Amino acid sequence: MRHDQKGSIPANHLLAVTGLGVRFPTPKGPVDVVKDLSFTLDRGQTLGIVGESGSGKSMTSLAIMGLLPKDAKVTGSILLNGSQTVDRSDAELRKLRGDSMAMVFQDPLSSLNPYYTVGLQITEAYRAHRNVSRRAARAVALEAMAQVQIKDPQLRIDQYPHQFSGGMRQRIMIAIALCCEPDLIIADEPTTALDVTVQAQILALMADLQKETGAGMIFITHDLAVVSQVAQNVIVMNTGRPVESGTTEQIFSAPAHPYTRALLNAIPRLDDDLEELKMVQEFTRPKVTPAAVTTS
Ligand SMILES: Nc1ncnc2c1ncn2[C@@H]1O[C@H](COP(=O)(O)OP(=O)(O)OP(=O)(O)O)[C@@H](O)[C@H]1O
Ligand SMILES: [Mg+2]
Repeated sequence: MRHDQKGSIPANHLLAVTGLGVRFPTPKGPVDVVKDLSFTLDRGQTLGIVGESGSGKSMTSLAIMGLLPKDAKVTGSILLNGSQTVDRSDAELRKLRGDSMAMVFQDPLSSLNPYYTVGLQITEAYRAHRNVSRRAARAVALEAMAQVQIKDPQLRIDQYPHQFSGGMRQRIMIAIALCCEPDLIIADEPTTALDVTVQAQILALMADLQKETGAGMIFITHDLAVVSQVAQNVIVMNTGRPVESGTTEQIFSAPAHPYTRALLNAIPRLDDDLEELKMVQEFTRPKVTPAAVTTS
C-alpha cells in the first residue's frame, strides 16, 4: 500500500504513552485494570505486549484506540504523532481510527458483518475516511485483497465472510485495517484463533506489510514464542501493571522480573510431563512493584 501521501511526520515518536491508567467503577468500588503504563513506539517498529489473561492487554489497546466503554476512566497521556488522544470527542476519535490507527482483532468472524460481502466491508471502511467514488474504492479493495494474498480477488470480492476460511477472514480484516494506510496498527491476538501453519503465514504477511508501509505496530499476545518472532521491544504486564520491559532479546535471555521468568517457564516443552503442566501462579504470585517502563 502506498504510504507516501501522509505529509511530513514530526521527528518525535509515533506513539508516546505516559502514565496510562484505566479505571472501571464496580459495585465493590473502582478497579484499576491498567495502571502506570508508559512506553514509546517508533515508525516501523513492533512492540509486543504480553501477559496472562486479564492482565490488561486489551484494555490498553482499547484505550489507545478510544474504544473503551463509556464508564471507563482514562488517565495519563497518549500522544499519537505528537497530539493528545485522551479526552478527544467521539467524532475526532472516529476520524483517527482507520485513518491514523487501526486495529486487528482476534476473532474476524465477530468483526465482519455476515450480511455484507467482504468487498463492501473493505470499500465502506475506505470510504469512511476517503472521499472517493464506490468504483474507486472497489479498485482499492481489489488491490488490498491482492496485497493480503487472497487469490482471485475479482471473484472473491463479491463473496460473504462465511465463504472464507478463518485465515482468509483474518486477511480480510488486515486488508480493512490497512486500506487507509494507518501509521499505527494494533493487533490484539490476531492469530490466536488460527492453526499454527496459518498463524505463521499471517505473521509473515503482517511483517511484510509493515515493512512496506513503515507503520508502527503494537502486537498483543499471551504467546511468548509469537512475540519473539515479531517484536523488537516487549512489555510484560501483570494485573494491569507493567512489570518489565526491554528489547525482546533482553527479556528472553535475561528476564529480570520473577513474573516474566514464570511466564517463560510456563511455556510447555516437548520433554515436559503433560500431567504436570504448570500455571504461572504455581511459580510465583509476586507482589508486583510497578517498574518504570520506557522502550524506544
Ligand atoms: N467493564 C469492566 N468493568 C470492570 N472490569 C473490567 C471491565 N472490562 C474488563 N475488565 C477487567 O479488566 C481486566 C483486564 O482485561 P483485559 O481484557 O485487558 O485482559 P487481557 O490481558 O486482554 O486478557 P486476555 O488475554 O484474556 O484477552 C480484567 O480483569 C477484566 O475483568
Ligand atoms: Mg485481551
